[in-house]
Amino acid sequence: MKLESLKEQVTAIIELSTQEARVKMQEICDLLQDQVSYYDWVGFYMAHETEPTLHLWSQAGEPTDHTIIPFGKGICGQVAVSNKNFVVDDVHAQDNYIACSIHVKSEVVIPLFKNGKNIGQIDIDSNTAQAFTTADERFLEWVNEQVGTIL
Ligand code: SME
Repeated sequence: MKLESLKEQVTAIIELSTQEARVKMQEICDLLQDQVSYYDWVGFYMAHETEPTLHLWSQAGEPTDHTIIPFGKGICGQVAVSNKNFVVDDVHAQDNYIACSIHVKSEVVIPLFKNGKNIGQIDIDSNTAQAFTTADERFLEWVNEQVGTIL
């Protein structure tokens, strides 16, 4: 299956010894957005060390104005607080949602843990409604585990 077949390339990016973590995270965003047809925007938001805000470290897809998101705001901010995956089948049905593009119909946000602490997240937008399944959740949890090893 497509997602499984990407694991080898993600691992290769993680193991590139010469690159900084942030560069590797950018390469992972580029890979996933390019290779998975319904991943229209892929980004990593990371928690500030002291302030309750998320900061966009890397992204692939249309540029967004939302480079800093307070904890609790939008889907991303809610995941920063809940520590749980958030799959949104229809973004228009959400009250606490930050729109980055009028084309987006569904979204998934998966927290990224380091030593048991929620330190950030991968956020994926799709222009297709109900785009994400448990297969995406399991794959993206795996991606975040790999990224956690280089942070
Ligand atoms: N939709 C997100 C904001 C980030 S953009 O999707 C890039 C949210 O509601 O938190």
